[in-house]
Amino acid sequence: AKVAVFVSGTGTNMAALLYASRLPGSPYEIALVAANDPAAPALALARAEGVPTFALAHAGMAREDHDAAMERAARDAGAQYIVLAGYMRILTPGFVGRWEGRMLNIHPSLLPAYPGLDTHARAIAAGDSYGGTSVHLVTEELDAGEILGQIAIAIQPGDTPAALAARVRLAEHQLYPRVLADYVSRWNDPQHLLARVRTLAL
Ligand code: GRF
Repeated sequence: AKVAVFVSGTGTNMAALLYASRLPGSPYEIALVAANDPAAPALALARAEGVPTFALAHAGMAREDHDAAMERAARDAGAQYIVLAGYMRILTPGFVGRWEGRMLNIHPSLLPAYPGLDTHARAIAAGDSYGGTSVHLVTEELDAGEILGQIAIAIQPGDTPAALAARVRLAEHQLYPRVLADYVSRWNDPQHLLARVRTLAL
């Protein structure tokens, strides 16, 4: 399956997805890395690895127009899935709707706890024993789609948000490639295809 990865920043999850895709038997390949920030380090990494990239700064653009350009880039690359990996933009409902069931996100908390920003600071302030990371399907409601996989990460005494974030990141790099591979494999299996056709026929 061909995948477009949307990023805004460092792109360590994108890198983990890319390197995993180069292991024998990977059911997905990264056809495009697209960013809303032309200076995102993720783009330089992708370019160095020979992965096609697309960048368009969102400043001064209507959200619909920026989304449309990102979506076109994904389609032009032949993407069947869009994978958000630290993409810090909320997508328009139309875009989300067209990719329903084919757009994944990774979020640094044990959803449904702590959607949105500052997840680690909130988990520590609440005295939680565990933080974590979740891969989920993207729906209109922020960080609320079906959860496809999670890893819990123990919060240590004296933990800081930055220290916890670093451990969560390590877990994310294990989780995201595995969940994506499982998910696209699921979509390729005949039973799943039948379910898709049925849904379209409704
Ligand atoms: C990750 O922690 C992810 O959960 C969140 O944004 C961060 C992206 O980090 N959505 P990176 O750019 O992949 O290093």
